[in-house]
Formats: sequence, structure tokens, C-alpha cells
Amino acid sequence: MTGAVTKRRVAILISGRGSNMAALIKAASAPDFPAEISLVISNKADAPGLERAGAAGVKTLVIESKPFGKDRAGFEKLLQAALDEHGIELICLGGFMRLFTAEFTMAWYGRMLNIHPSLLPSFPGLDPHGQALRAGVKLSGATVHFVIPETDAGPIVMQGAVPVSDHDTGDTLSERILEVEHRIYPEALRLLATGKVRIEGDVCKTDGSGPSENFLVAPVVR
Ligand code: GAR
Repeated sequence: MTGAVTKRRVAILISGRGSNMAALIKAASAPDFPAEISLVISNKADAPGLERAGAAGVKTLVIESKPFGKDRAGFEKLLQAALDEHGIELICLGGFMRLFTAEFTMAWYGRMLNIHPSLLPSFPGLDPHGQALRAGVKLSGATVHFVIPETDAGPIVMQGAVPVSDHDTGDTLSERILEVEHRIYPEALRLLATGKVRIEGDVCKTDGSGPSENFLVAPVVR
């Protein structure tokens, strides 16, 4: 039987450039991808990602958060109404720079992913690349995790590592990590959409997974 894949309805929330959003849209355009990007919502009207999403034929919405100030619940009420209206089942945050109330994150617990450009739990919050460089770590990377009330924390679904060199700047490191982000975010969404991940306490486990065969060592001296 060649039955069509059941696609979970996903909303991507952005605030800016939207390169992770674009990677997710691209992956989801494959006929056998188990999720469709049904909606992109930005909390900023001038987010460049909006144009990118529109050009890819994805429905976009702007819900400005600024007028709500500290009234996070007020903003989330509009957000939730839009998600309901579009029958959204899963949320991916892609550079969405607005904190949620604990109530909103718990309502979406297990159904909302975030990506952060560090190997969490190292370097959460702002300027993770600068934090990594200042700490002198030799490996960094990106993490896709379930969203919990605490910022840049929650059960880890997938990580990808990159070497950090003595010559790296915030820009070069961020560029290298971004490549990994674009690789792991669609894979993590695929796992979630196909029901292959489960949360056990604070930890996310993946059906059928094993360790990858390669490992990464840094620095290498030639
Ligand atoms: C990405 O690097 C993402 O990991 C980061 O913002 C950037 C958004 O870029 N997110 C965080 O730092 C979350 N704490 P993009 O708009 O091109 O996807």
C-alpha cells in the first residue's frame, strides 16, 4: 500500500531572519515528511523571515508582542487563538525572542520545540557563541529541546557538535553552528511528528536510536 503520510500541522514562531524556519519549510516540502508547516507567526512586523515564508507559499501572521509589554498572557491569548484557528498540533520556535508564561509552556509541553546554538545545558540565554568562546570550549554545537518554563532548558531531543578553533569569532562560530542547526531541526521535528520520542522525567528518549559511529575531537594539530 502506498498510503499518503499523515502530516502533523506545525506552526513556526519567529522574530527575525528565519533561517531555521526556511530549513524546516524545505524539509517539510518532501512528500514523505511527516509534518507540514501550516503557519508562520512573527511577533515582529519587520522580521525578514516573513517574506521568506510567504515566498515559499506558507501562510504568515504577525502578532505584535510589543504593545502587550509585560502582559505575556495577553499576547499568548491572541497567539493561542491563531494556533487553534489553524488546527496547529506542534510548535517550532525558530529564533523567537519572547519569553512565555509558565502556563503557556505547560499547555504545549511535549508539543513545542526550540533550537538553541549551544550544547545545552552549557551557555543558555543571550550570546551563546560569545559565552562559548570566553569559556574556551573546544566543541560547541546546537540543541533542539522541548520547551519548559525555564529559558533554553527542557528535555533534549537532538544535538549536533562542531569544533571551535582558536581563530573563531562569534560570527564564524555562529555560521558553523547554524549549518548544524539546519541539519538537526528538521530531523528532530521528524522524530516528534512520527511519535518516536518520549519524555521520561527530565529526559527525552528516542525509539530505535543508538550512538552515532563517529566522534569529534578538537583541536587537531597539523
Ligand atoms: C538561531 O541561531 C537560533 O538557534 C537562535 O536564534 C537564531 C535564529 O536564527 N535561538 C536562540 O538563541 C534561542 N535562545 P534564524 O532566525 O535564522 O533561525
